[in-house]
Amino acid sequence: MYRILVLHGPNLNLLGTREPQHYGRETLAEVNARIERAAAALGVSVDCRQSNHEGQLIDWIHEARGERDGLILNPGAYTHTSYAIRDAVAAVGLPTVEVHLSNIHAREPFRHVSVIAPVALGQIAGFGPYGTCWRCMLGAAPQ
Ligand code: DQA
Repeated sequence: MYRILVLHGPNLNLLGTREPQHYGRETLAEVNARIERAAAALGVSVDCRQSNHEGQLIDWIHEARGERDGLILNPGAYTHTSYAIRDAVAAVGLPTVEVHLSNIHAREPFRHVSVIAPVALGQIAGFGPYGTCWRCMLGAAPQ
C-alpha cells in the first residue's frame, strides 16, 4: 500500500477561522478527514500532521525516508523563506507535491516565490481543500 505523509505548516492549525477569504471555513480536522476519506477510496495510507515549527517539519521529513513513499506538503509561509525545508525535501528524495489552499500567484508578490517548488514534483495552488494531488503522487509511484 502506497504510504503518504501529509504535512501542514505554520498557522494551518487555525484553519476555519484564519482569513477565511483566503483559506476557507473548513477546520484542519475537517480538511484531514477529507484527505483520509480520499486516501481510503484510493487505497493509500495517509498520516496527516501539522506543526508551527520549522525544525519539527524537517524532522518529520527526515523520518519519512524509508517509511513513506511520498510527501504532500503545505509549508505555509515557510514556502517563501525556508531553504532548510527545501534542503530536507531534496535530501530525502521522496516524490513531493507542494499544495496551497490559496492561489499564491494571485496574492502579494512575496508569496509568488516558492523556494520549495524546484525540488517538488509539482505545485497545486488555489483549490482550497480540494487541492491534494493524489493522482500526481500516484502517477510518480513505481508501477
Ligand atoms: C498557504 C499560502 C502561504 O503564503 C501562507 O503563508 C500560508 C498558507 C496556503 O495554503 O495558501 O500560511 O500555504
